[in-house]
Amino acid sequence: MYLRKIRFLFNWVCIFAEIFLVYGLAYGGVHDIADINKRQEQHKKLERKNAEFIKKIKEKIGSRIAKLGIPKPWVSPPKIKTAELPLALQFFPKDSFGYPDWAAAARKNLINPREYIFNPKEAEEEDKEYDKDIIFKLNDDVMPDVLFSHKTHNFWLSCKNCHPSIFIDKKGGNNFDMFDIWRGKYCGRCHGKVSFMPKGIDNCRRCHSK
Ligand code: HEC
Ligand code: HEC
Ligand code: HEC
Repeated sequence: MYLRKIRFLFNWVCIFAEIFLVYGLAYGGVHDIADINKRQEQHKKLERKNAEFIKKIKEKIGSRIAKLGIPKPWVSPPKIKTAELPLALQFFPKDSFGYPDWAAAARKNLINPREYIFNPKEAEEEDKEYDKDIIFKLNDDVMPDVLFSHKTHNFWLSCKNCHPSIFIDKKGGNNFDMFDIWRGKYCGRCHGKVSFMPKGIDNCRRCHSK
């Protein structure tokens, strides 16, 4: 008699457990699929936005790029695989093309180059703190304005790296355009060589960020 009651109860417990299990799996599955769909939708939206952006850029400057023989800047730089980077850089934050993002590494305190590059005392004498942000106003319907941060640059560089040989230290005192940068002058003295390239839409947005 007791045995039958226990078996009866046990059966019910099993049925409930199964219902929970099946429901849990099904619900979890649906949830995952909804999540993937949402991410795919966001990705597609971004791709559409980028395609639209590239189209406008080409219309605007495509013919001048061709005439000057500058490599097409809207083509992304070749992606780097983490395994191709030197071991010390494999754990670094990366930009969207897989290259080490030095500025992000500095922000996260993973590196502190000033102390290594300079004798800090000498640095103090030579390079006083100078944090002024410079905005290059473009008034352009496609490209946002450019933010040049002294703070980010002075973290690595001495004033003398830029002033006066690359830039006169006066706002608006340097007459240059994007084509000069692509030909390796002004910002292009470093960007495209020791720092990220002026190539690929995500990189455009790193400078054209305002
Ligand atoms: C990576 C390059 C770079 C470095 C390094 C750099 N600057 Fe500049 N600096 C610029 C640029 C670009 C401008 C804006 C020039 C323009 O508008 O044409 C500028 C402008 C200036 C101006 C003029 C600001 C104004 O409102 O007129 C001063 C002053 C100045 N820098 C001082 C310094 C000092 C001091 C240091 C070092 C602590 C320094 N800069 C390091 C690139 C640099
Ligand atoms: C003397 C070399 C040099 C010159 C000239 C130079 N940069 Fe840089 N720039 C660097 C270095 C080094 C970094 C930090 C490393 C990196 O991010 O690759 C950097 C980083 C940056 C960043 C990333 C900042 C961040 O927080 O992610 C931007 C944006 C930038 N530079 C814009 C400019 C612009 C605009 C100009 C010209 C007006 C310019 N740079 C000229 C060397 C230079
Ligand atoms: C290293 C920083 C940097 C990067 C990366 C960069 N730009 Fe620029 N760009 C500038 C600066 C600074 C100016 C403003 C120059 C001036 O005063 O006219 C500018 C100006 C422009 C202009 C205005 C027209 C002109 O001749 O100056 C266009 C268009 C432009 N950039 C397109 C692009 C595109 C497209 C990309 C990406 C493929 C890109 N830029 C990447 C710094 C950058």
